[in-house]
Amino acid sequence: MKFLGKPRSQTAASLPLCLLFLKILQPGHSRLYSNRYAGDKVIRLIPNSEEEAYALKKICRQLKVDLWQPSSVSHVSEGIVTDVHVPQNGSRALLAFLQEANILYKILIEDLQKALEQGSGLRPPRNRRSLSEYNYEVYHSLEEIQNWMQYLNNTHSGLIHMFSIGKSYEGRPLFVLKLGRRSRAYKNAVWIDCGIHAREWIGPAFCQWFVKEALLTYKSDPTMRKMMNHLYFYIMPVFNVDGYHFSWTNDRFWRKTRSRNSRFHCRGVDANRNWKVKWCNEGASMHPCDDTYCGPFPESEPEVKAVANFLRKHKKHIKAYLSFHAYAQMLLYPYSYKYATIPNFSCVESAAYKAVNALRSVYGVRYRYGPASSTLYVSSGSSMDWAYKTGIPYTFAFELRDTGHFGFLLPEMLIQPTCTETMLAVKNIAMHLLRKCP
Ligand SMILES: *[C@@H]1O[C@H](CO)[C@@H](O)[C@H](O)[C@H]1NC(C)=O
Ligand SMILES: *[C@@H]1O[C@H](CO)[C@@H](O)[C@H](O)[C@H]1NC(C)=O
Ligand SMILES: *[C@@H]1O[C@H](CO)[C@@H](O)[C@H](O)[C@H]1NC(C)=O
Ligand SMILES: [Zn+2]
Repeated sequence: MKFLGKPRSQTAASLPLCLLFLKILQPGHSRLYSNRYAGDKVIRLIPNSEEEAYALKKICRQLKVDLWQPSSVSHVSEGIVTDVHVPQNGSRALLAFLQEANILYKILIEDLQKALEQGSGLRPPRNRRSLSEYNYEVYHSLEEIQNWMQYLNNTHSGLIHMFSIGKSYEGRPLFVLKLGRRSRAYKNAVWIDCGIHAREWIGPAFCQWFVKEALLTYKSDPTMRKMMNHLYFYIMPVFNVDGYHFSWTNDRFWRKTRSRNSRFHCRGVDANRNWKVKWCNEGASMHPCDDTYCGPFPESEPEVKAVANFLRKHKKHIKAYLSFHAYAQMLLYPYSYKYATIPNFSCVESAAYKAVNALRSVYGVRYRYGPASSTLYVSSGSSMDWAYKTGIPYTFAFELRDTGHFGFLLPEMLIQPTCTETMLAVKNIAMHLLRKCP
């Protein structure tokens, strides 16, 4: 069990040395992502009327801003807080416009490159310690996560089985961990995926945390023991493997998959708009260059198709589908694509209510909860709606911390508190499954 420990002090102590080492080795190459975010800003826009919202949509399209929240310009409307990442050459124009039009705004991040290099996310590659001292309080590259999965498969075969459900667009295996004691022939199961959207790094960190907690506590914690005895958990730590890899090597704020388009230079599809449920309707874009591009047809992305095939095949025993995103601090359930309540509303609603209360009990962090359409925004072709439509009665999407202070650059220091509180929510939902909902 030494493997599950977290040598914080050692890691902290070795870091400055490591940075120094890198600087000496590669002078001029020490800027992350080739310094491409220097001078970029993240600005919160707060339109107070439909006219202001209309004007903002126009300028956001003109300046080709990268929307952080909500994920598409089409959602910008009166009273909706909108966080945008503006390139350096556009930020002066945007600020001038905002002042001229007297639209409320707030600069969330003054210099994105600096924020990135100040430990709010990625640092230069370090000499990682051996797997037996794995640190769960840092973000890990795809390779590290896959090595970690392999290691667990070799060392914890009583509780973990690792397998692949297919290959990504760029040919990477799509690994899933099946977690739980093989105590009975038939067990209900919970599906958990993280990292559908590449830049939401806290997602994969949570999936790893969940597995660690299960292995560490199932002997001592009665709730975890119950979960491991009575359920299987299918855990996919990185859904969008190509995109996640790209967010480490090229563009920290990449969201989509990496598939090519025959007619456009823009690459990638929004893997959370590519599912066959009201596909490519409201809240999804038909344009390949948009961040919410729905793809040429439903399940066009091999990653989506692989998971959809797996869920279809195992839907009889999968009772819950949980998908981890960031950021907004919300617990969402269907529908995403329309304003309506699901038939199973009261059971699902009470599960969500209890989950967010459990989450809040740890550090007082508040999550909103409700149908995704009315709580976040309308979006079609989402995995959650699809899983629900396919017959999985409990389907949720978490939008983890924060509410925009760091946004996608949630510092590694906040991995532990974020995952600790989220664990309680997930355990609550799992225990809800084991009781009969009236
Ligand atoms: C900012 O620079 C990029 C490329 O460097 C260019 O494509 C874009 O048009 C520029 N935007 C403005 C508003 O000048
Ligand atoms: C996981 O371990 C089992 C043996 O316990 C092995 O059969 C399987 O191939 C391993 N999975 C992967 C993806 O390597
Ligand atoms: C409602 O949930 C129960 C399990 O809690 C399930 O058996 C039933 O099929 C669900 N009904 C619908 C309409 O989803
Ligand atoms: Zn997301």
